[in-house]
Amino acid sequence: MRLGLMGAAASAALWAGAALAGPGAAPTPPMGWNSWNHFAGKIDDATVRAQADAMVASGMRDAGYRYINIDDTWEGERDAQGVIHANAKFPDMKALADYVHAKGLKLGIYSSPGPKTCAGYEGSFGHEAQDARTYAAWGIDYLKYDLCSLGTPMLKAGSLEKAQAIELAAYRKMDAALKATGRPIVFSLCQYGFYQVWRWGGSVGGNLWRTTGDISDHFARMATIGFGQAGLSKYAKPGQWNDPDMLEVGNGGMTPIEYRTHMSLWALLAAPLLAGNDLTRMSEDTRAILTNREVIAIDQDALGRQGDRVRAEGPLEIWARPLSGGGKAVGLFNLSDQPANMDVNFTEVGFKGPVKARDVWGAKDLGTVKSYHAVVAGHGAVLLRLG
Ligand code: GLA
Repeated sequence: MRLGLMGAAASAALWAGAALAGPGAAPTPPMGWNSWNHFAGKIDDATVRAQADAMVASGMRDAGYRYINIDDTWEGERDAQGVIHANAKFPDMKALADYVHAKGLKLGIYSSPGPKTCAGYEGSFGHEAQDARTYAAWGIDYLKYDLCSLGTPMLKAGSLEKAQAIELAAYRKMDAALKATGRPIVFSLCQYGFYQVWRWGGSVGGNLWRTTGDISDHFARMATIGFGQAGLSKYAKPGQWNDPDMLEVGNGGMTPIEYRTHMSLWALLAAPLLAGNDLTRMSEDTRAILTNREVIAIDQDALGRQGDRVRAEGPLEIWARPLSGGGKAVGLFNLSDQPANMDVNFTEVGFKGPVKARDVWGAKDLGTVKSYHAVVAGHGAVLLRLG
């Protein structure tokens, strides 16, 4: 009888774990922070702890941000048994995970399927199962797996098909290794969008996959990446997301208007919201942009459908995203650097008659209306919630 009860408890725990692995690990686009955009190689244990503290103190955790993700340059040497160790910047990864977990947050890490990471540190090639076990033992909850040096054997493979086979096998290998640990670990593929990754990223276990090369903190680069996502909406679904790269909000290279455009577009795209700034030094504008509950609610909408472009006329674009409950989020984007008159008739986004409308950033109800007119600032966006 006692054994039976214990068995029931154990299988309930296993079942809960199983529900969280695979697509269940990311029912909505992951939200958190990643070290790369701001700190790049200058990341260490103390800085990561400070970011975790700031995620709580700033209200970001309460707004839904969870993952504290260490990107490249944490990796040290392998020991005689082949076990990977962190370098001197991270004296005790398990203790760091405990610290982050105690704050109600999760810890992410980074590696490559190749022998070297993009910054030239130790990758997981030939050590996949061992590394997955190490991550699980440390208490890691998220792995960004970045193609980097696996590109070399792929280039030498002789054909696209053979190159892709190498890549798929490498991602599948780590997916199996992560699952074998029994610990739910979000699996983030990073290979810059080659070979239409959106068509197969889910089949190799990816919860998200980068669709592009690296973002930078410039309006032109953000816009090239973000608006370049047109046509990809059908490939995203709960547990499997297109990833147009991490946020640059607050890093200083764009104006608050431009950062609101960045955040609006990422929410319409059901993109992962991984802040890439220094959370310990945020202006009030930055904090307000990152924690806007209504924008986050659009990004995290339970229906899990990505938005797409409805129309573009030169630099003026209308995007829409279906929401649970039959509503829609609509973005009016002005990519030019001058203010522009923009109109959207709600029949264009699928409504037959007047509909309740709200200006999300303005936090203003607009009544029940059939259309909307706005003068949209240069590089600016208006984000509406309809229905
Ligand atoms: C690649 C990735 C970036 C970052 C760096 C780290 O460039 O695309 O997001 O992880 O590697 O070296």
